[in-house]
Amino acid sequence: MTADDAQGPEAEELEVSEAQIAVHWKEEEFYYPPPRFIGQANASDPAIRERFTEDKFPECFKEYADLLTWDEYWHTTLDTSNPPFWRWFVGGRLNASFNCVDRHLRTRPNQGALIWVPELESDETVVVTYRDLYRRVNETAAMLRDFCGLKTGDRVTLHMPMVPELPILMLACARLGVIHSQVFAGFSGAACGGRISDSQSRVLITMDGYYRNGDLLDHRVKADEAVARAKEEGQEVDKVLVYQRHPGRYTSKNPMVAGRDFFVDEVMASYEGQLVDPVSLPAEAPLFIMYSSGTTGRPKGCQHSIGGYLSYVTGTSKYYQDIHPEDTYWCAADIGWITGHSYIVYGPLSLGTTSVMYEGVPTYPDPGRAWRIAERLGVNIFHTAPTTIRMLRKVGSDEPTKYDYHFKHMTTVGEPIEPDVWRWYYDVVGKGEAVIVDTWWQTETGGFMGSTLPGLEPMKPGSCGPAALGIYPVIYDEDGEEVPRGSGRAGNICIRNPWPGGFQTVWGDPDRFVKTYYEKYNKDPESTDWRDWPYFANDGATQAPDGYFRILGRVDDVINVAGHRLGTKELESASVLVEEVAEAAAVPVMDELRGRAVEMYISLKPGVVAGPDVEEKIAKVIENEIGKVARPKNVWIVPDMPKTRSGKIMRRVIAGISNFTDVGDITTLANPEVVEEIRVQVQKAKEARGEVPRTLSEREEEELEAFGQAE
Ligand code: PRX
Repeated sequence: MTADDAQGPEAEELEVSEAQIAVHWKEEEFYYPPPRFIGQANASDPAIRERFTEDKFPECFKEYADLLTWDEYWHTTLDTSNPPFWRWFVGGRLNASFNCVDRHLRTRPNQGALIWVPELESDETVVVTYRDLYRRVNETAAMLRDFCGLKTGDRVTLHMPMVPELPILMLACARLGVIHSQVFAGFSGAACGGRISDSQSRVLITMDGYYRNGDLLDHRVKADEAVARAKEEGQEVDKVLVYQRHPGRYTSKNPMVAGRDFFVDEVMASYEGQLVDPVSLPAEAPLFIMYSSGTTGRPKGCQHSIGGYLSYVTGTSKYYQDIHPEDTYWCAADIGWITGHSYIVYGPLSLGTTSVMYEGVPTYPDPGRAWRIAERLGVNIFHTAPTTIRMLRKVGSDEPTKYDYHFKHMTTVGEPIEPDVWRWYYDVVGKGEAVIVDTWWQTETGGFMGSTLPGLEPMKPGSCGPAALGIYPVIYDEDGEEVPRGSGRAGNICIRNPWPGGFQTVWGDPDRFVKTYYEKYNKDPESTDWRDWPYFANDGATQAPDGYFRILGRVDDVINVAGHRLGTKELESASVLVEEVAEAAAVPVMDELRGRAVEMYISLKPGVVAGPDVEEKIAKVIENEIGKVARPKNVWIVPDMPKTRSGKIMRRVIAGISNFTDVGDITTLANPEVVEEIRVQVQKAKEARGEVPRTLSEREEEELEAFGQAE
């Protein structure tokens, strides 16, 4: 038998579905929002919940869309005629760049739109006012149109670090209706190349270098790798535009390629002062593509719309981030991720606020850096991820007390946050003055799906809270039976209804869109009633008696490392590129700072001798194919993989070994004897390296038990 027959009886016997797992953690006490916050909150009238009840769906979302300026108003709020390809605000026309830039010109031309903080403290902070933003977006749009020949509907790949040119480029694309696909700068050239070919981009825009931990990294070298990889996959890149981190001083070791590569500063000179009319586009036209990992194969290009997406991120930025134009808002995420797209660029700028961007590492050059930035710029809304909070606490648990900043609002996003870490965030970072929202959502959802309304609903450490306005979730077990609220059981969280921020499709692969997100719980493939098409989020969750959701993590084979979604398949297919490797399996290991880290288990081809050079080759190939974020903590070369009789690698078993937990029932394995052999090998080595983890919580053990069951 082959691995393709994995659904044989042996495999089934071993599976523990999420829905069968009882969760027994203690529910935490509520924390109530401070009165001072409530007094100024955008959402302070409890009637707001009533405006978004299910009987008002889908018209309730008019409230979000009305925050935008439309060239033409829509005639149909939601068209469900071709499920699950929902169309929002049909008939409407608008431009996202106009909404984020032009419409603020009259009211706040001299207010900062972006404040950019370079990593080196000796470098000057740059304030880009709305007037500057308007000028730079127009000039950039002129360059994209006239020099690059880009037009509405074309795709362009950006591989930009955290510099103001990135949001300027995004908004310039949006002005023309060019679909941007920004690839996280930390991703490798090969990963970027794969995304260039998938999106069929002819133009790549990058920068020569950027600062990280005090070093000026050579980023431009990745462009050559990206172009080469895209070419291998059949996609030619005609132009590579290169920004210079220090204008006029090119810092990469790779030479520019004549006829293909151009310095933006030189090209842009011809477009100085040019204005480009924003193109009036249908609400359902695509705004951007953002790639994300999932269970199978290559990352999926999540396609987001202009009208629905922009309405949703503007509405949620207003009510959940509590952004007012006069706030100074700092989201410390990277714009290369969906959080940055929605909640550094599009949502905040659509509301006309001041959005802070920081180039580098929040603990560089010392643990007080983040709080110095907050103090100096008067940041009053702060947004980050648990992994950063853990790191900030580890390196300087009382640093925040040394700085005179005052947050009214703080966000946590991207991973479950431990109640203990939550409390440090609340007491020390927030100084007990700030409200916290724990926002659960995904690349696919465009904006928040679960969170408390900060002025109206109490916080509960470790829970994201109730569903967001106009979102009606349900938790199903594997058989599609509803797991009732308060049952203490976990299941698969789904969203029963469409919402405007939801992605429109997987770029170039509509079947995968339907299969991955809708097939599992679809009630009738012929139905045009949205009620028959719940969206399967691929996350496990429980719902407390009070209605608050607790997100347990992915139920597919995704490992969330420091908030980065890594697919086991991507890690494994990278590893098998090393010629000595026969088989590879990726598992998560609990990590104090990053939440989870990756460990690779490798079996070698017959006759190949294991050694540190093979281990390093595997770690390197993963860095090359995906990026440094994916570098495994350990590579274990083992005599054989534990397998079912149908040939399926039992990741659950090796995940148990890596984490020193129970490996569970192994009696039905084809080769049970290998388990003990691997256990002794791996755990001995870990003990020698001081890598024995703390005792895991029941919840963490359950997560490991469920790992690897998604295939
Ligand atoms: O497992 C959930 C986790 O991150 C996944 C989405 O990752 P990504 O598409 O990269 O988007 C990250 C930014 C939203 C989810 O499927 N996740 C996200 N937010 C939370 C979370 N897990 C627990 N609590 C959260 N607040």
